Amino acid sequence: MPAWLKDAVFYEIYPQSFKDTNGDGIGDLEGIIEKLNYVTSLGCNALWINPCFDSPFKDAGYDVRDYKKVAPRYGTNEDLYRLFDEAHKRGIHVLLDLVPGHTSEEHEWFLESKKAERNQYSDRYVWTKSAFQGIGGRPYIGGEADRDGCYMLNFFKCQPALNYGFLKRTEDWQMAPDEPACIETKEAMKDIMRFWLDKGCDGFRVDMADSLVKEDDENKSATGAIWKNIREMLDNEYPEAALISEWSNPVLALKYGFHADFYLDHHGNGYNTLIRDNETPGGDHSFLKKDGNGDIMRFLSDYLPKYDKTRNDGYISFITCNHDTPRARRTLGFDELKIAYAMFLTLPGVPFIYYGDEIGMRYIEDIHTKEGGYARTGTRTPMQWDNSANKGFSTAPADKLYLPVDPADDAPTVADQEKDPSSLLNTVKALTALRRSEPGLKADAEFEVIYAEKDEFPFVFKRGDLIISVNPSDKKASATLPRKMEKAYEIGNVQISDASLIMGPQSFCVLR
Ligand code: NOJ
Repeated sequence: MPAWLKDAVFYEIYPQSFKDTNGDGIGDLEGIIEKLNYVTSLGCNALWINPCFDSPFKDAGYDVRDYKKVAPRYGTNEDLYRLFDEAHKRGIHVLLDLVPGHTSEEHEWFLESKKAERNQYSDRYVWTKSAFQGIGGRPYIGGEADRDGCYMLNFFKCQPALNYGFLKRTEDWQMAPDEPACIETKEAMKDIMRFWLDKGCDGFRVDMADSLVKEDDENKSATGAIWKNIREMLDNEYPEAALISEWSNPVLALKYGFHADFYLDHHGNGYNTLIRDNETPGGDHSFLKKDGNGDIMRFLSDYLPKYDKTRNDGYISFITCNHDTPRARRTLGFDELKIAYAMFLTLPGVPFIYYGDEIGMRYIEDIHTKEGGYARTGTRTPMQWDNSANKGFSTAPADKLYLPVDPADDAPTVADQEKDPSSLLNTVKALTALRRSEPGLKADAEFEVIYAEKDEFPFVFKRGDLIISVNPSDKKASATLPRKMEKAYEIGNVQISDASLIMGPQSFCVLR
């Protein structure tokens, strides 16, 4: 386990929209380098950069054309090496995004694989034996290649599935995961990882980590065996490199070697019950909505068993949101966001802040899809730095921007919020500073629920020697403390009298 993860607070950067330094309307690596001091000022000490590799960008770069080349629109490989260097000088670790399940249909492996003549890459992807024979139950394409066969897709049409084999095989074109061609796919991924780790990258966020072996069993044991093998390689060769999965099944992901797994907003899981309750009819009852009358037990009944089963193996990562989910600001107001982030930044595990969430950027509802974004596009608009043209994102004419900036008159900016001591940005800074200075808030520090009752507030938990109490509701709430304690941090109005804790509406506190 890389020791640095214990103290890590990540910042996710969607490179398209972060900072444009050459005036072409799209963000670049130089822009990220320019803003590293901002990342530090925020209290973040680690980055996850969405795919920045050569790509036709039909899925925002998750369709990789060349894993070892930076997309020219972002800069050069040398710029990325310099980014690693500049980040390291500031104590910032950098994760790249590894997409192991599929490539772009323009990747040279695929261009070879689709040829009629057999070659080194013929079996790099999943192909049937005839252009008329589809792939049962899975998306596929036929009639597009000289090769007589259909190929399987892993996500969009532009993303053919790499071949790691099938665990349960019912067709003669399906290979076993231990066939040489499938092993070669895995070795090719390791080669890519070594390439970037040798250049100074500190690990990977792994896209669709559970999607490798097809027709796997319910424990994904064949896919898991691949990750165990990759983790062994990392432990031997790059013991400080971190591996974080997009799996949203921490019990499996951590067992198979990931250091952390994201707690994503998958349909009906605990995360949604906190910030975006799209399950219950009759309104939004999420716990962090001030008038939601939410029930913390809906979150805990999902999260606690996962936490208990994984606490010795690694971390569950809370996110403020990510490039695939609506921003939390879509359902929560600024005061609610403060409490939400306070909770995410004090729970166990390794937290991630998505760029712009620290100032409460909006999810833009009516925006045209870009690069396969569709409903996700509204979460990917340019960072709002200040009140200059294009909110300081770019000097390009407004109609040349990657995506339009939030047109709202009151669109939040970093510059405004830096000046306001009570802003969301300054709250985030205070929280990250607290997290990094308190041993009880480290990723692996003890966690125990002290008070959580159905339909009641506050939610009280223990981290190391600290007690944390969360009252997101618009009503006063109180709790009994185990002993006399003092406030180390508060949001809203919190009173302590002897062993009682009285929490004003929308309040949060850390006690010691
Ligand atoms: C998950 C990524 O986060 C998403 O943005 C992408 O479209 C799919 N995987 C496919 O790679």
